Amino acid sequence: MEKLVIEGGKPLSGTIRIQGAKNAALPILAASVLTGGSVTVENVPDLLDIRVMLDILTALGSKTELSGHQVRLDMSGLNSSHIPEELMKQMRSSIFLMGPLLARFGSVTVYQPGGCAIGERKINLHLTGLEALGARIEEKGSTIVCRADKLVGTDIVLDFPSVGATENIMMAAAAAEGRTTIHNAAREPEIQDLQHFLNAMGARIYGAGTNTITVDGVREFHPCRYRIIPDRIAAGTVIVAAAATRGNVTLENVNPQHLTSLVHVLRRAGVQIVSSGDIMNVQCHSRPKRVERIVTSPYPSFPTDMQSLLMVFLSLTDGLSIIKETVFEGRFKHVEELSRMGADIRVDLNAALIKGVPRLYGATVEATDLRAGAALVIAGLAAHGTTVVEQIHHIDRGYERIEEMLAKLGAKIVRKASGGGSI
Ligand code: UD1
Repeated sequence: MEKLVIEGGKPLSGTIRIQGAKNAALPILAASVLTGGSVTVENVPDLLDIRVMLDILTALGSKTELSGHQVRLDMSGLNSSHIPEELMKQMRSSIFLMGPLLARFGSVTVYQPGGCAIGERKINLHLTGLEALGARIEEKGSTIVCRADKLVGTDIVLDFPSVGATENIMMAAAAAEGRTTIHNAAREPEIQDLQHFLNAMGARIYGAGTNTITVDGVREFHPCRYRIIPDRIAAGTVIVAAAATRGNVTLENVNPQHLTSLVHVLRRAGVQIVSSGDIMNVQCHSRPKRVERIVTSPYPSFPTDMQSLLMVFLSLTDGLSIIKETVFEGRFKHVEELSRMGADIRVDLNAALIKGVPRLYGATVEATDLRAGAALVIAGLAAHGTTVVEQIHHIDRGYERIEEMLAKLGAKIVRKASGGGSI
């Protein structure tokens, strides 16, 4: 068990390179089981979740090698489509293997990924999507067995534009017979990245980034080399940290188009943000203004993954702001922790009413999930005094050594063993 100890109150300043996107890398690594050959994926962040995905692929018989930010996979020895239960429970994203393993082996055994700190996170849309392609699904307790003699393309209408369900259906449909059309598909940039990767392996998919995706099934997938897009949520985390500490930070390896909704909100609050190519500069020199109302919803609207981070920023503005969370029902666990640091936030069903305070104060707080943990780190950077963030394994799932990244920007932050000395 480790913790982060932060001496707050110092504006962040300097230049930082943003990691590759976790949420693009995970489905892309899963999709590579469609080929019997080798795949090289670049710009892969070295994170706990990525390592769990590689452990699963190894357990299924493939050869995996992570070196720096490059992953090399040799899928020729892949011989099982039964995901070990203990690995499945470690990471919800293992569900991404369902579609491609079903397509390659004609059957797949997975386990319910279970609940999660941010809400119920059902998989019904994944299952009904695969059923529509011809899969038969048997659920016994937490075991789910999915079989299909062949997958056949069809029209699928999603009740909700689920990111994971869209991706799972795309991967299975890529190898199905005929055409699949996914209506009300999620439009996140990570879905476009998956389309580009699958097409680099020989798939024929069009429309990712819009709400209608067309997949013409193919029989064979070939080896390829692919580079993952920059992580928009990691970039957003640095942008909000720069703004909340009234700093001046330049980000490299970002796609500003993927950050439009966040940039729009921060500019309304008075933060100066300038982009050029894959570089962005963020500056905030005075107390930001409140932003009346923000509603999280699927891309291109304001991302639920940025909600807790933005809340820290808003808690330091000059008035009352409201955030309405519409994607996950249980995503306000960080409010209690932020309140212990002096934030004035009231939760009313799925809305948080945030009354800006002049400053936050250091405290010992607990990360309850990945983005909530990152939000507490930002709160610690902006606060007066010392903040200790515990349960940081949640943060390590999505950020590559967050303390090293922030220390490069002048933050006073160290990782310590929960008992004592630095690591
Ligand atoms: C992905 C992201 C996560 C992000 C989320 C929403 C990855 C690895 N994770 O998660 O960081 O917060 O998108 O942008 O890419 N739902 C159902 N039935 C389903 C599937 C989803 O009811 O079968 C519901 C969920 O409970 C949730 C909502 O749909 O309320 C959004 O979920 P979804 O878009 O599927 O998110 P994930 O793919 O799990």
